[in-house]
Amino acid sequence: MFVPPSIYGNKEYTMTGAELQSMFKSSINLKSIDGVQCEELNLQPSDMQWWRDAKIGMFVHWGLYSILGRGEWVRHNEQIPWATYKALADQFNPHNFQMDELCTLAKDFGAAYMVLVTKHHDGFSLWNSPGSYEGFTTFNTASHRDFVREYIDACRKAGLRVGLYYSPMDWRFPGYFYPKGLRKNAELMKQQCYTQIAELTGNYGPIDIMWYDGGWLAHQGTDASSAWFWEPVKLNKIVRQNNPKTLINPRSGWEGDFQCDEGPHEITGRILPIPWEKNMSISSSWGFVPDDHVHNFDWLIRMMVNVICRDGNWLLNVGPDKDGKLTPEIIGRMRKIGAWLKTNGEAVYKTRGGPVEPVDGVFGTTYRENNVYIHILDTAAFVLLPLTGYRIITCRLLSGESLPFTQNTHGVSIVFPHNLPAGPDTIVHLTLDKPVWT
Ligand code: GLC
Repeated sequence: MFVPPSIYGNKEYTMTGAELQSMFKSSINLKSIDGVQCEELNLQPSDMQWWRDAKIGMFVHWGLYSILGRGEWVRHNEQIPWATYKALADQFNPHNFQMDELCTLAKDFGAAYMVLVTKHHDGFSLWNSPGSYEGFTTFNTASHRDFVREYIDACRKAGLRVGLYYSPMDWRFPGYFYPKGLRKNAELMKQQCYTQIAELTGNYGPIDIMWYDGGWLAHQGTDASSAWFWEPVKLNKIVRQNNPKTLINPRSGWEGDFQCDEGPHEITGRILPIPWEKNMSISSSWGFVPDDHVHNFDWLIRMMVNVICRDGNWLLNVGPDKDGKLTPEIIGRMRKIGAWLKTNGEAVYKTRGGPVEPVDGVFGTTYRENNVYIHILDTAAFVLLPLTGYRIITCRLLSGESLPFTQNTHGVSIVFPHNLPAGPDTIVHLTLDKPVWT
C-alpha cells in the first residue's frame, strides 16, 4: 500500500483498515458543483476569511408553514388549495416575538452568523417587498411587519453576520412546473426573483451571505441545469452591484463562493480543499413540526467535529413555531452546544481542517498557526497521529492536563490517562515548533 510521504513521513507505514477506508471515500455531497462559471463574480479569499474563521452559523426556517406544523413543504406535499394557504397569512401575527430572541439564541449557541429564510418555495415574503407577486408578504398581511428589517437590525446589534435565504422557485406560478410551455408565467416568477433580490441586497445595507435554494425547475434536475432559465450570472451581478462583498452560495446555478452539503447524513472521508458548508436541521424537519425528533447532543457535536476537521462550516437549522418560539428541548440543545463551544472553541473557531487527514470515526484535526487540535472520537482506536516534520513542544488535553508522548518517523503517539473524561470529542492540543505548512 502506497502511503503519501507528506502525511505519513517517508518510511513505509502499514495503515489500519479504518485509515484506508476513510482515505478513499467521502460522503460529502456537494449539491451544485456544476454551476455556471463567471470569474468576475468570485470573491477573493481575503473577502471570505471572516466566514471561514466563523465556522458556526444558525439557520432559521420560519414562515406560513410554521402555522400548520407539518414542515415547510406542506403546501406542495398536501396540495393545499391556494385560497386556503393564502388565508394563513391572516394568522401570521406573532405579537410576542422579537428577532432579538433568535439572535440571542444564535449567540448562546456559538454562531457567528445567521441565515434566515426570507421566502421559501411557498412564496410568502417576510419583508416589505413591492416586488412580491400579488403582494404576498408579512408587511401586507396580519402582522404588517418587515421581519427582514427586524432580523438584520437584531443581528447587527448582537454582532452577528447576516445571511438571507431566498428561494427563486415559487409554487404559486404554474410556469414553475412548465417553464417552457407556460413561459410567460415562468417569466413573471423570474421577474419577481430579480426584483426581490434587488430589494434584499439593495435596501438593507450590507448583507453578508446570499443563500439561495431551489433554483431547479419543476423539481427536476439540479440548480445548475436550470441556469438557462434563471441566468444566474445576471442575477448575481445585481447582488455584487448592491453589495460587492456578499458571499453567495452555489444554489442559484452560478458556481458561487462556497459549496453546500445538505442534510443530516454523516460526514466522512478526506479534507475538502475548497470552502464548503454543511447545512442541516437540529430536528428531523426544517420547518416547525411539534414533537419532532431532536438530534442527540453527542451526535451533533461529533457531526460538527467531522465537518470542521474536513475544513467545512456548520450551519444548524431551527424551525420556530408560528409565534416565533422554539421548544424548550431545542433551546436547551442549542445552548448545550454553545456551552461546549465556550469550553472548546479554541479548537474550532479560526481553525482550518488538517494538517492530518481524518480517520472516519476515530479522529480528525484542526489547526491554527503552530497549534494543532486532535479531535478524538474514539480514544481506544486512536493509535498514532501521522504528523511528521514538526517537533512537538507541548501536548496536553485541551482541558489542561499534560500528556506524555513520543515522536518517531511515523508520527506522534500519546499516552492517555486512565481516568480520561468521557465526552463526544476528546481534544488534545499540540504546540509545534513552527506554524503548520511551513
Ligand atoms: C431542502 C429542502 C428545503 C430546505 C432546504 C434547506 O432543499 O427541500 O425545504 O429549505 O433544504 O437547505
